[in-house]
Amino acid sequence: MTRVLVVGSGLAGLIAAVRATDAGHRVTLVTKAALSDSNTRYAQGGIAAALFPDDSTDAHILDTLRAGAGLCDAAAVRVLCEEGPARVRDLIRFGVDFDRDESGITRGLEAAHSRSRVLHAGGDATGAAIETALVATVQERAKRAHALGGDQITIHEHTMLVDLIVTDDQGSARVTGALLLGPDGDRHTVSADAVILATGGAGALYRHTTNPAIATGDGVAAAWRAGAAVADVEFYQFHPTALAVPGTPLVSEAVRGEGAVLLTSTGERFMPAIHPDAELAPRDIVARGIAAQMKAQGGAPVLLDATGLGRALLESRFPTITAACRAAGLDWAVEPIPVAPAAHYWMGGVATDGWGRTSLSGLYAVGEVARTGAHGANRLASNSLLEAAVFADRAVRALDAEEQGPPFFDDLDVIAELDGAVLDSADPDSAEHADGTLVDRGTLQELLWEAAGVHRSGSGLTRAAVTLAGWRAVDRAGAGVAELETGNLLDLGRLIVAAALAREESRGAHHRADFPDSRPELARPHFSRRPESLTRTLLTVPSQPSEAIAC
Ligand code: SIN
Repeated sequence: MTRVLVVGSGLAGLIAAVRATDAGHRVTLVTKAALSDSNTRYAQGGIAAALFPDDSTDAHILDTLRAGAGLCDAAAVRVLCEEGPARVRDLIRFGVDFDRDESGITRGLEAAHSRSRVLHAGGDATGAAIETALVATVQERAKRAHALGGDQITIHEHTMLVDLIVTDDQGSARVTGALLLGPDGDRHTVSADAVILATGGAGALYRHTTNPAIATGDGVAAAWRAGAAVADVEFYQFHPTALAVPGTPLVSEAVRGEGAVLLTSTGERFMPAIHPDAELAPRDIVARGIAAQMKAQGGAPVLLDATGLGRALLESRFPTITAACRAAGLDWAVEPIPVAPAAHYWMGGVATDGWGRTSLSGLYAVGEVARTGAHGANRLASNSLLEAAVFADRAVRALDAEEQGPPFFDDLDVIAELDGAVLDSADPDSAEHADGTLVDRGTLQELLWEAAGVHRSGSGLTRAAVTLAGWRAVDRAGAGVAELETGNLLDLGRLIVAAALAREESRGAHHRADFPDSRPELARPHFSRRPESLTRTLLTVPSQPSEAIAC
């Protein structure tokens, strides 16, 4: 029996917890907020899978590769699209009630998909439906274990990952647990044979985001500090259409899939002049098209005209967006609504192989925290829930199976592609940061939005790197949740800016004004890892905290 610590309770974490419990492992699930609080809950459009007779795995693969702009890992994409349908059927078994009509499960079309293949639930409440079903499944497993007198799965809410514990395993580093901050403010260590990170993305890096405030990249930051390789961190996806009101709620791609169009502030369509697929062009192209149009009209948001869809369809198919419009005093059945791009999804993250294994033994990463290579430089719409389901399942299968072969990262040549400059400027423990100004989260978000947002330039990124180098975070030893989060955002902001500076081309979601074209010789991922000399600082188990949580 393996002791498994799962960190995070979105789709990826919940699937990992259920699968690991069912496989007979002893599971501890910790999550920073309440069990049902996660980025998954906000997903609208749905989950893409080649499940219908007019579709094929190959067509889904092709669409994913095209959107990924030359940076996808072809093997990861194949796994995603081949295993996706089975994982969607698992979700149905776990109680997810996808929308149906008289012909069966209904499906939507989203940008850059050559077929309608996006399943949805509750209209545009797909993520909420998935989260609800999986939370119930996990709770049922915990209840059953408890009734049988066992503790095969225990759940700790409002418990934050502070750092990973790395120990020396005969000369090589191994993750053996985590340091956690509990709801009472106490720190605890938990030992585990395997830690599965499922902590999600880091939309809170940016001033405008569709993510909830809890999306502060805690898992990527902790993995980076522990010495795990990260990859492609410069690729952050900006959703083209967030409602341009406080909180920037998402307005799903599916709305454009149903026929809504984008208009300038004076009411003209502008996307047909930018791309033959107009409003259904890949997400990065639509986001940049909107950002450019906003600049041309003095910063005012563009308009999304969904009036042609009719009130009945808007209210039944998109109840979440209808409610968000209503809360903002807008009636989208009768008037176009203001929309603008917002940070949405991180393609980069902790580098994993096809089994969720990271470059550190004992550490797995699944869902948005991971960079599997399935999304390349630009994720295809509605592939994120699918990726979380597919690779969480595979990580659990990999826990005690050796037949998957050695991890990808045994090939150290891959990580040898490290860029020394990236490492130096991004390192949180570098002496140059010690006397800096205490970082302010709002100012950091503003800086990232301006310098490392939809449009980037070498000069803007260089200025941002200098500013970031002059900031410091609160000492992690005594920090509370908000301070730890801000420290994580600072570490990640440095990483993203450094990686964006290092990638001297435009590709997918990464667009540099000074290098406006893709450079074929740069069509490869960018792996980075902290130098071993610095990760040694984490090689000891902290002595103060007690082992109060059993795993
Ligand atoms: C959306 O509904 O537009 C979001 C779907 C996604 O991010 O894949």
